[in-house]
Amino acid sequence: MSDANATAGAKKAGFHIDQAKYERMYADSISNPEAFWGEHGKRLDWIKPYTKVKNTSFAYDNVSIKWFEDGTLNVSANCIDRHLATRGDQTAIIWEADDPNETPQHISYKELHAQTCKMANVLKAMGVGKGDRVVIYMPMIPEAAYAMLACARIGAIHSIVFAGFSPDALGARINGCDAKVVITADHAPRGGRKTKLKDNVNQALLHDTSDVKCLVVQRTGDQVAWRRDLDFWWHEEAEKVSADCPPEEMNAEDPLFILYTSGSTGMPKGVVHTTGGYLTYASMTHEYIFDYHEGDIYWCTADVGWVTGHSYIVYGPLANGATTLMFEGVPTYPDAGRFWQVCERHKVTQFYTAPTAIRALMGKGTGPVEGSDLSSLRILGSVGEPINPEAWNWYNENVGKGKCPIVDTWWQTETGGILITPLPGVIDTPKPGSATKPFFGVKPVVLDDQGNELDGETSGVLALKDSWPGQMRTVWGDHSRFVSTYFEMFKGYYFSGDGCRRDADGDYWITGRVDDVINVSGHRMGTAEVESALVAHATVSEAAVVGYPHDIKGQGIYCYVTLMDGVEATEALRTELGNWVRQEIGPIAKPDVIQWAPGLPKTRSGKIMRRILRKIAENDFDSLGDTSTLADPSVVDELIANRTKA
Ligand code: PRX
Repeated sequence: MSDANATAGAKKAGFHIDQAKYERMYADSISNPEAFWGEHGKRLDWIKPYTKVKNTSFAYDNVSIKWFEDGTLNVSANCIDRHLATRGDQTAIIWEADDPNETPQHISYKELHAQTCKMANVLKAMGVGKGDRVVIYMPMIPEAAYAMLACARIGAIHSIVFAGFSPDALGARINGCDAKVVITADHAPRGGRKTKLKDNVNQALLHDTSDVKCLVVQRTGDQVAWRRDLDFWWHEEAEKVSADCPPEEMNAEDPLFILYTSGSTGMPKGVVHTTGGYLTYASMTHEYIFDYHEGDIYWCTADVGWVTGHSYIVYGPLANGATTLMFEGVPTYPDAGRFWQVCERHKVTQFYTAPTAIRALMGKGTGPVEGSDLSSLRILGSVGEPINPEAWNWYNENVGKGKCPIVDTWWQTETGGILITPLPGVIDTPKPGSATKPFFGVKPVVLDDQGNELDGETSGVLALKDSWPGQMRTVWGDHSRFVSTYFEMFKGYYFSGDGCRRDADGDYWITGRVDDVINVSGHRMGTAEVESALVAHATVSEAAVVGYPHDIKGQGIYCYVTLMDGVEATEALRTELGNWVRQEIGPIAKPDVIQWAPGLPKTRSGKIMRRILRKIAENDFDSLGDTSTLADPSVVDELIANRTKA
């Protein structure tokens, strides 16, 4: 039952978890994970119930993660079919278009069932079977959710590529998982502009010889170039198939999806999530962390192209029989009041967004927030990067009106679901900027550089000591990369790549990445990716990329570029290089600053000293550290002299 109109005090009594319950459940989850997860795994409908719960090892020479390994189930049946008897007519998805004048859609669980089954049957007719890979490159429209659930229904593995990625990035991901089919739309409207998705797919597949088929949703009706015999319109194919498709029986450890994410080295890796553990974890975290109750209208503003959209727009909420809102647009279109208008229009109870959006809206003042009735809101969430106290306070005062608990949720693509977060009924005195305490079954530790566990109030790197059901299982096609990325540096632990501080109360404060990954507007970007895009340009001889503090984006992309001999460093070239990176990777990778660097600071063995480049980008010239070991210390003075203003 929704308690949206209750007073703050009464609300607290109604939370799923209070302090005492948290402590008891957390202790149980750590002392006996088998019993704890054995019980909570039952929140799903299993075709064949599991008898084994946890079989996991973080040992470097034998990394292996299995949960509920002898159980079978189907994710789409758990997200749809099991709700039909009790809530067939309830809205599963509310869809809000980019253009506020377009009528929102309310898709019931019955309708979701029919559409998902149809898409599953269309995929089958296109030759997709269990274990095959399907790339989804879509706007934020209900068909994106149908596509995910249709894959899950027939046991195909989806790999969603964010619609903002370029044809090259898309092509690499299609090849990376050897996809049979790409599901896309003609165009994607966003912020009043349109991205030509189908044309991007055509370009991505230009040199492909494996005849990848394409299923195209008509979103705008704009013209697209058609590949005869390989392209199919969704609305035409849907007419030809039945609205019933029996769900495939899947093993708990069968892959559900692949999601490419940036790391500190090389090209993005395909994070693999499986079926039973992932869904158990997504569903349980969604219920408890957002204090989800029957009748709530839950809105996560992420895109399904990122893990947040997977776990907290589609899988977690639908597994819980929730009403989940999907928004096609951006926070500032047509104006900075859009988020709040949508909250008012649909009486949203839980609102989950990213600090970068809050900071962008903060800059527009309180007028746009005050213009909407936000009294339905009960819980606010934050994800993707550390939230600065100023943004936290603004969110709390202007959006939550000081009455809504804020859950600052720390997690990663790799973790499948939220690992560290306050729980709404457990917050006594909020700590702006702290993700506070681990969720059930999560064992965080703070390590020093040598991998020693640090006690009490301390800081270091954040690692996890034991597995949780939502954990990624492997890197697609490269298990050794999985092991070397996450388990090599600190033996016996999962290494998160983040730094953190633990305070005297045992609360965690995430301080940001300690590797060469930067967090731009809550999106992960490997500096190596931007560097390789830059050096692929004919004029560039060398490039080094670092993050630097950016008021809105959290971190901005700062590039040091050494040009080929004889190439003139002009403003026109600077613009061209910025556009080049944008075109190679996508708009999110567009450099904020490009500084010409006649030389880069290198050790005598040729290693670029990024520490120094970071300090220069931050305008912090007093703590450059020891530069005497550089092959040519004078390059540092030159870079400081050339420091381009952001
Ligand atoms: O650095 C952490 C940051 O985002 C990284 C994970 O990025 P991604 O895999 O793209 O997933 C983002 C959404 C789950 C983390 O390593 N991060 C995420 N949430 C927080 C955060 N940093 C601080 N506080 C958070 N709440």
